[in-house]
Amino acid sequence: MSRLKIVAGNWKMNKSSQEAKTLVENILHQVSEFDNVVKIIIPPFPYLDSVGQLLKNKSNFYIGAQNCHTHDKGAYTGEVSALMLQSVGCQYVLIGHSERRQYFKEKDADFILKMKEALAHQLTPIYCIGETIHERKTDNHFKVITEQLVSVLKSFSVSDVKKMIIAYEPVWAIGTGETATAQQAQEMHEFIRSVVVDLFDSGIANEIPILYGGSCNPKNAQELFACKDVDGGLIGGASLNADDFCKIIFSF
Ligand code: PGA
Repeated sequence: MSRLKIVAGNWKMNKSSQEAKTLVENILHQVSEFDNVVKIIIPPFPYLDSVGQLLKNKSNFYIGAQNCHTHDKGAYTGEVSALMLQSVGCQYVLIGHSERRQYFKEKDADFILKMKEALAHQLTPIYCIGETIHERKTDNHFKVITEQLVSVLKSFSVSDVKKMIIAYEPVWAIGTGETATAQQAQEMHEFIRSVVVDLFDSGIANEIPILYGGSCNPKNAQELFACKDVDGGLIGGASLNADDFCKIIFSF
């Protein structure tokens, strides 16, 4: 079955408002909106609206958020809800990114609530999972990935999971310049589908897009995207440069 091709750019906490505008304009300048790659720009919260305006009516371009809160509204100073994200035209949201796990101590219970909020507001959750270098070196990577999938996805129905994207991002590859080999990525993506088969069924396992993330760049994207079970990339550092990001988009 043919799945969507997706490239998502996670800007993390980078760029000024003017730089954000320039970056998007430079991307739009290079990328034909008529190619068949789904392009998701994930800027910091303050630029969602302005970036969204620039991408308005550009087919195959969408905006996503880097996080959302577990509640719709209320006395949660400093937080942003899925309801708010939806109201500024957001269609995707990252959940469970390793930096949220590491620096903000977010756990499975948070991811479940955030994912429910996202789905309740028609946002597609991009659920990020990945093992640390220690977990890989001690041969625990398949176990860790299974736990990260099962402990969260078991709270959802098949029809919910149909609205999700999974991003496999080995923590040792994020921002380090060290990428998983195409073989390592393919092996893990295939394994992730097998876990989804066990949890749900093979139909949904074949349908769900699985992105690779972790030092994906213009040099390695083509080999990674050529893997049978790799449906695209979640790009950090290389999404901050229009030329690099566009080359990655052209790597399918
Ligand atoms: P990176 O980040 O491409 O800079 O490694 C990927 C991510 O954290 O999503």
